[in-house]
Amino acid sequence: MSDHREVSVILVYHSGYGHTEAIAKSVAKGVADVEGVSIELIKADDENKDWDKLAAADAIIFGSPTYMGSVSAQFKGFMDESSKVWFAHGWKGKVAAGFTVSASQSGDKLNSLIQMSVFAAQHGMIWIPTGMMPGNNTSEASQEDLNRIGSYLGMMAQANADQGADVAPPATDHRTAVHFGAHVAQSAKRWVAGA
Ligand SMILES: Cc1cc2nc3c(=O)[nH]c(=O)nc-3n(C[C@H](O)[C@H](O)[C@H](O)COP(=O)(O)O)c2cc1C
Repeated sequence: MSDHREVSVILVYHSGYGHTEAIAKSVAKGVADVEGVSIELIKADDENKDWDKLAAADAIIFGSPTYMGSVSAQFKGFMDESSKVWFAHGWKGKVAAGFTVSASQSGDKLNSLIQMSVFAAQHGMIWIPTGMMPGNNTSEASQEDLNRIGSYLGMMAQANADQGADVAPPATDHRTAVHFGAHVAQSAKRWVAGA
């Protein structure tokens, strides 16, 4: 039965200074927490990327820092490289989702998520949003809330510019990332089972 096979998720990310990589690991943990779902991380700028693995995946999660209000050049390089796959619509019907990390609370992170979601649409992929209510937006709310930045399209994390990846983004964003990874994994499972 197709609903008993393992669902495979690949997370493709770039990280210049480790913050996005740290969040990628938390997203991956959330994916791995879901029974019957496997996860593998691939660096977007790895020249020896295994495109066959991406072709075989049920879901691909994209992760990039926001640099100059945009995905990083390295991540955009991966997007452009994938045009070879696009020609054959090789990722059509796969589940997709994305996350980004930047220093400012906004920092124009939304633009990076819009880029990723448009990219997924060009590939004919099924975009999964955070599925989370916004946190930290009432008088009784706090920075400790899940989804403290209040993002819907994809997951956002914020890392203070003067702190290393060991402490930034803060634990609350890592919790949000785990939650997000699990949500994408569960969505992929439903999509595969219903296929
Ligand atoms: C070239 C460059 C451009 C940046 N542009 C932005 C930006 O537009 N908005 C923002 O909030 N932070 C910006 N930052 C800060 C990074 O997004 C932030 O340091 C992030 O944590 C880096 O992630 P990484 O360690 O995975 O590379 C920029 C950093 C660099 C190096």
